[in-house]
Amino acid sequence: MIVSEHIEGYIDSLIPDLPDDLRDLEEWALEHGVPIIRKSMQQYLKLLLTERKPKKILEIGTAIGFSTLFLERFSEADTEITTIEKVEMRLKEARKNLHGHDRIRLIEGDALSVLDNMALNHTERYDFIFLDAAKGQYPEFLKPISKLLEKGGMLVTDNVLLEGTIAESKFSIERRDRTIHKRMREYLYELTHSGEYETAVMPVGDGVAVSVKL
Ligand SMILES: C[S@@+](CC[C@H](N)C(=O)[O-])C[C@H]1O[C@@H](n2cnc3c(N)ncnc32)[C@H](O)[C@@H]1O
Repeated sequence: MIVSEHIEGYIDSLIPDLPDDLRDLEEWALEHGVPIIRKSMQQYLKLLLTERKPKKILEIGTAIGFSTLFLERFSEADTEITTIEKVEMRLKEARKNLHGHDRIRLIEGDALSVLDNMALNHTERYDFIFLDAAKGQYPEFLKPISKLLEKGGMLVTDNVLLEGTIAESKFSIERRDRTIHKRMREYLYELTHSGEYETAVMPVGDGVAVSVKL
């Protein structure tokens, strides 16, 4: 959590209740220790979807499909959503939860090779990409993402502030977390300095980077 519990609690209290099915899934995820997008991030995503009205969404990191169903619920009736997940334990739930949702395509596999193949084949283009997967892989994801995102399209990256530790010196980071710390800094530097994107990094949820491809 980036902002204090007190402030986050107040902000969350202003957010409208989720529809019953999403609320039940959110509760299930929290009970079973599945990390899903926080309330403040949900509301921010909803705002971005309302404003951008994307037609083709790509999500990297499905988990059990909570955010996927959220993207479906708050996008236009003809918006198509592709989502990628690789862990069988998560896929087992995602398959159940996404079954019968015709606008959602679940791709099972490692996002890095799925994205590389998509980028290589030039078959897919997206106007909205939501990146919420293994944080240490973000710099590697960026290359294919840049090819798959349309000019003017939006890339939303969750969890970029690493619970605030991103701002600490690497020497104060536990040795086991140093690689993720280094990679996330590289990723944010690239997003903000490559000239390819206009990016704002904000303390929403666990930190979000919102980028528009120039
Ligand atoms: C934070 S969870 C996603 C939560 C989900 N977006 C939500 O809010 O409901 C991250 C997910 O990304 C998946 N993941 C991590 N690295 C991946 C990769 N390289 N390819 C596919 N899935 C990956 C993990 O298995 C995990 O389920």
